[in-house]
Amino acid sequence: MSIKSEPHAGNLCNLQDRVAVVTGSSRGIGFEIARVLASQGCNIVLNGVSNESAIEAAAETLRQDYGVDVLCCFGDVSDASVTADMAKAVFKKFKRLDVLVNNAGILDDGLLGMMTQDQINRTLDINVKGPINTMQAFSRLLARSPSGSIINISSIIGREGNRGQVVYGASKAAVIGATYSAAKELAAQNIRVNSIAPGYIKTDMISAVPEDTHQERLDSIAMKRIGQAEDVARTALFLASDLSLYVTGQVIGVDGGMLI
Ligand SMILES: NC(=O)c1ccc[n+]([C@@H]2O[C@H](COP(=O)([O-])OP(=O)(O)OC[C@H]3O[C@@H](n4cnc5c(N)ncnc54)[C@H](OP(=O)(O)O)[C@@H]3O)[C@@H](O)[C@H]2O)c1
Repeated sequence: MSIKSEPHAGNLCNLQDRVAVVTGSSRGIGFEIARVLASQGCNIVLNGVSNESAIEAAAETLRQDYGVDVLCCFGDVSDASVTADMAKAVFKKFKRLDVLVNNAGILDDGLLGMMTQDQINRTLDINVKGPINTMQAFSRLLARSPSGSIINISSIIGREGNRGQVVYGASKAAVIGATYSAAKELAAQNIRVNSIAPGYIKTDMISAVPEDTHQERLDSIAMKRIGQAEDVARTALFLASDLSLYVTGQVIGVDGGMLI
């Protein structure tokens, strides 16, 4: 009997020397996605909006730990001129793009009747216009990749809603709608477009959740533990890599069974 040797997992991923843009990657889920992709030899474009030195420090960590090339693009993804400049900088440095992860997002909860127009606009601008701006800016470059992949980070709230999260829920449902349409539009150019809907993940974003709500959320997780940024990053690795070559237009929940 002949034994077929399977390629090493790293070869199946095929991310060595490819290039990934990860928005909102100075910390939290975005940094973890960048780190896991870098661990497979993928060059990284980091982005953040409020702390330039944090992005530089994150870049240095990736360079030292994984020997990859890192470009830092500071700026607000809700501004189309910023994402257009990012695309120019990525082309100038790498001449290619293989993976776009739309991760940058904000959470600013409020009950109906209590929210300001500024709050509503800011959430929709960053969470919805942000991914649309980057998909506009980067699609042409992604189409030149042998295996282009766009990953839009949504949320469980975009699928099942929550009290006090009308705007955030609407923004994350919009991300899923944009994913479906972009998947249909870009399939002809061999670009896969998928979404990840994380559940309750331990990052700065949930640090202000009151203790009783925190306990309620933990109790609603079938796997009985809070998610870690790395749980999301490993799913992003699957969608970014050649492990998912025939997967497009999907929403993958990473929520430990919160939504079953
Ligand atoms: N944590 C959860 O439980 C959870 C659950 C479901 C979905 N998500 C989604 O997962 C994504 C990441 O969340 P997280 O928990 O890692 O959040 P986080 O810890 O608050 O980090 C947010 C990241 O987004 C960046 N960012 C915010 N606004 C930006 C803008 N306008 N332009 C560019 N970058 C911007 C931040 O940059 P600075 O450091 O410069 O501020 C930071 O790097 C978000 O889309 C969020 O909605 C999170």
